[in-house]
Amino acid sequence: MKKPVTRTFGILTSGGDCPGLNAAIRGVAKAAHFTYNMTVIGISEGYRGLIEGNARLLKPEDFSGILTQGGTILGTSREKPFKLDKNAPKDSSLGRQKPEAIIENYHRLNLDCLVVLGGNGTHKTANLLKQEGLNIIGLPKTIDNDIWGTDVTFGFHSAVDIATEAIDRLHSTAHSHNRVMVIELMGHKAGWLALYAGIAGGGDVILIPEIPYSIDAICRHLLKRARSGKQFSIVVVAEGAVSQEEIQNSKPKKQKNPYFSKGHEVAEAIAEASGMETRLTVLGYLQRGGTPSPYDRLLATLFGTTAADLMAEGNFGKMVALEGSRIITRPLEEVAGKLKRVPLDHPLIRTARNIGTCLGDE
Ligand code: F6P
Repeated sequence: MKKPVTRTFGILTSGGDCPGLNAAIRGVAKAAHFTYNMTVIGISEGYRGLIEGNARLLKPEDFSGILTQGGTILGTSREKPFKLDKNAPKDSSLGRQKPEAIIENYHRLNLDCLVVLGGNGTHKTANLLKQEGLNIIGLPKTIDNDIWGTDVTFGFHSAVDIATEAIDRLHSTAHSHNRVMVIELMGHKAGWLALYAGIAGGGDVILIPEIPYSIDAICRHLLKRARSGKQFSIVVVAEGAVSQEEIQNSKPKKQKNPYFSKGHEVAEAIAEASGMETRLTVLGYLQRGGTPSPYDRLLATLFGTTAADLMAEGNFGKMVALEGSRIITRPLEEVAGKLKRVPLDHPLIRTARNIGTCLGDE
């Protein structure tokens, strides 16, 4: 076998955790170590660990037995090393301190490459580090499925499974008590999770950020269902959903308060406008926890082993992605700063409407 270009690499997980991170770490580390004889350095808590030099040698026993574990054995953070401190003077060198610490530690640890597992913010930083001259490879993870350039991110399908099961379970109480059950799902500014789980769980109303909703339209649908004998309904709300009113006022209300989110607003408005008994469930972090689904284990392992191949070839500066059933790579600069939202002509939107699901707009 040809000598691999990469001998030592660092690996970190950054941004919100999700199912499949450990499966991906295992995939990269096993392939890199056993197939290419590389040395694996685990960096703690995302980019923060690289700023602080918080890293350790990972031995085979560290990356074995973790396939089914939720979370990340490396820890994570939302550290954005290139983000300027709001209070720092504009012309100061303060903005360079963290990137410089990262570059210094990358060389001090003798890394030939850095593998980052993360979402949009992580890949934006990865591209900036590429511009600083680091060899870097990205693996797309997030339950939101909103990373441009890949059809699917790992973590997404596990979250869809969890959310669908939650909707299935809500049907019992909805039906027994003749209630409107509102369930808020995550997804950030994209509606993938709400759309997939909403349709899979048979939601009667599905609100996603890409289609602004009107409470009147939702209530018309719920009351029509009630008149036709269906006294209960399930309303699936993406956390980033926006109302038509907010769009008209051109300032979507920022849900700054994590204890009063979109679901509360929608449930309260439905109860007031329709007079129907309404209850709310905010599924929250349950969607990010626990063991990855078989699909995510496979995807994370595929992405991980591909990262090892790329490192061996010296093919750096890429994000590994899924296109159809093919594993491909995309240059980081092509991916950075873009968001993949649900296109309005997505087949699932048409499907939802065709089976009589209200998407909040009509
Ligand atoms: O990006 C994943 C995600 O879970 C989003 O769906 C959600 O908006 C956000 O992270 C929550 O972030 P935090 O962990 O910082 O509360």
